[in-house]
Amino acid sequence: MGELLKSLEGLRKEVKEKIDKAFSSSQLEKIKSVYLGRKGVLASSFKDLSALPEEKRREAGRIANEIKSELHKLFSQKQEYLKISDRGGKEEIFDYTLPGKKNLSGRFHPLTQLSSQIVEIFYGMGFEVVYGPDVETNYYNFDALNFPQDHPARDMMDTFYIDEKRLLRTHTSPVQIRVFEKRKPPARILAPGRVYRNEAINARSYCVFYQVEGFYVDRDVTMADLKGVLLAFFQKLFGKDVRLRFRASFFPFTEPSAEVDISCVICGGKGCSVCKHRGWLEVVGAGMIDPEVFRAVGYDPEVYSGYAFGMGIDRMALLKYRIDDIRLFWENDLRFLRQF
Ligand code: PHE
Repeated sequence: MGELLKSLEGLRKEVKEKIDKAFSSSQLEKIKSVYLGRKGVLASSFKDLSALPEEKRREAGRIANEIKSELHKLFSQKQEYLKISDRGGKEEIFDYTLPGKKNLSGRFHPLTQLSSQIVEIFYGMGFEVVYGPDVETNYYNFDALNFPQDHPARDMMDTFYIDEKRLLRTHTSPVQIRVFEKRKPPARILAPGRVYRNEAINARSYCVFYQVEGFYVDRDVTMADLKGVLLAFFQKLFGKDVRLRFRASFFPFTEPSAEVDISCVICGGKGCSVCKHRGWLEVVGAGMIDPEVFRAVGYDPEVYSGYAFGMGIDRMALLKYRIDDIRLFWENDLRFLRQF
């Protein structure tokens, strides 16, 4: 009898598994008839019972009957389940009990986010967005911007040259020339994009970074317009308390030129480690477009004037998001990026 009980137990396990795995009603029916049918496996086990002595037969019969009714119950439960999920008798079912799939959503890189925000603010002030190529020529990057040939001013920026003529632009100012060549004033343009400089990589600088160039050419444009637009911009970006400071500077393509500082957005100007206790942060190069630039593109400097400014987006992102290492923007560690 031990043998028989063991084989009944094995049978029960086997059938349970099959019921579990069945994925359509028709498949389930087949399994049912193989095991529980009149000439099925269970029926033949019942026959073996008759060979047992009286009292053992009773005990084994009770167990066999229990198994039989348990399996019947499992069959009808599964049948109910398949009725719901087995649409139109198709063999595929949708298992509502499976855990859901998580939809991972992407996001914009923090530099892209800040760049869009900057563009939006200037767009609101009437600027139009234009893009220039990353691979520029000596002419657009230097010559037309009034950098004298073989003049140390060209060393201001450590240039990546591709060949004699072509280079990776070291600033977004060449977009000024490209726009001036194509159209007549007035032009109020914003030109964001990547620039490249062969600089030592450290926490504050990288060999690739983003700049945004802005310029406005029309009759009677003055330095006051430049100040007004920059102040409005920085107050939108960093809050109403931001103050500006213009310091005299030099760029070959602007005259006069200025470095524009904003009051430190971390300490409000009191002095902290970010502003190196100066209270000011240098964020913009700017000035009135040099008459030489206008001459190079055929604008009459007696009729038109204009301002231009350029700022580094990465540096501003450091301030805005309070990050102390610019390289994080380029490593693209997801743990970093997911915070934005
Ligand atoms: N192109 C200059 C730079 O990258 C910044 C600048 C832009 C200065 C426009 C004046 C006018 O340093």
